[in-house]
Amino acid sequence: MNFNKLGKYSAVMALLAGCLMAVSWTTWAQDKAANKYVGSAVCQSCHEEQYTTFTAYARKSHSYDSILKRIKGLTPVEVQECYTCHTTGYGEPGGFVSPEKTPELKDAGCEVCHGPGKIHAESQDPRFIVRKVTIDVCQRCHIEERVQSFRYKPIIHAGCH
Ligand code: HEC
Ligand code: HEC
Ligand code: HEC
Ligand code: HEC
Repeated sequence: MNFNKLGKYSAVMALLAGCLMAVSWTTWAQDKAANKYVGSAVCQSCHEEQYTTFTAYARKSHSYDSILKRIKGLTPVEVQECYTCHTTGYGEPGGFVSPEKTPELKDAGCEVCHGPGKIHAESQDPRFIVRKVTIDVCQRCHIEERVQSFRYKPIIHAGCH
């Protein structure tokens, strides 16, 4: 193989690799758009240990009950405000809508920290689930105002499983 041929060969290979990357990126992007929240029960079959600990110890796993405890006197709009933190994926595509329409998402489940799990649960591919959970995820719900009123500071791993 002379130098000229080698140059052509690598140009073709680079082009091919580029196409492959573009194709897999497009499928990945489409998959991401099709992702949905599925609820913690779906995770149970493959992650029994985390599921058992979570449902036994994390108050999140019963967080819809906390809304019900205080629901008396709240307007429907006020109740919807509770949904943002006490349910899974409220206001996001494929997230909680209402206790009747999406009963599997009515508590704050695995996916509030690990992100929507439909594609991961079907593919078992760890690339489609959030693996590294950082403190900013917690701070979406454990906001300053609540940290004070509940005298609570989120510590990573506490309240997870
Ligand atoms: C059908 C089986 C299956 C279901 C259902 C499933 N997973 Fe997984 N999950 C896996 C497999 C397999 C892995 C890869 C394990 C590995 O690489 O060690 C994985 C990996 C993960 C990881 C990364 C683990 C690590 O070590 O970094 C997380 C987080 C996770 N799953 C969360 C979830 C959540 C949340 C749900 C529910 C929405 C869920 N999984 C549903 C099979 C499943
Ligand atoms: C911005 C997020 C957020 C919103 C909105 C929210 N909560 Fe909470 N709620 C939390 C967090 C975080 C905790 C846990 C705090 C802790 O234990 O430190 C909590 C805890 C609670 C508790 C348990 C308190 C206790 O100490 O036993 C009740 C009850 C509750 N919330 C009811 C509601 C109701 C009702 C609404 C709507 C009117 C609501 N929450 C809206 C985040 C929120
Ligand atoms: C409050 C946030 C939170 C919730 C809710 C949560 N996780 Fe996690 N999860 C984490 C954190 C934090 C880690 C550790 C990640 C790291 O090491 O960076 C983790 C790690 C994992 C791992 C990797 C193995 C391990 O145990 O470290 C799996 C699998 C997993 N979670 C599954 C689940 C499942 C299934 C549920 C629901 C039953 C769930 N998680 C609910 C925060 C959460
Ligand atoms: C979608 C909103 C949301 C996110 C995200 C979230 N939490 Fe929570 N968390 C709650 C709510 C709501 C409660 C209170 C549940 C109740 O008592 O009704 C709670 C309760 C807790 C508690 C109280 C003790 C217990 O056993 O449950 C701890 C600790 C906690 N969360 C830690 C974390 C950490 C750490 C993270 C991030 C890795 C995190 N949370 C992310 C909503 C959230």
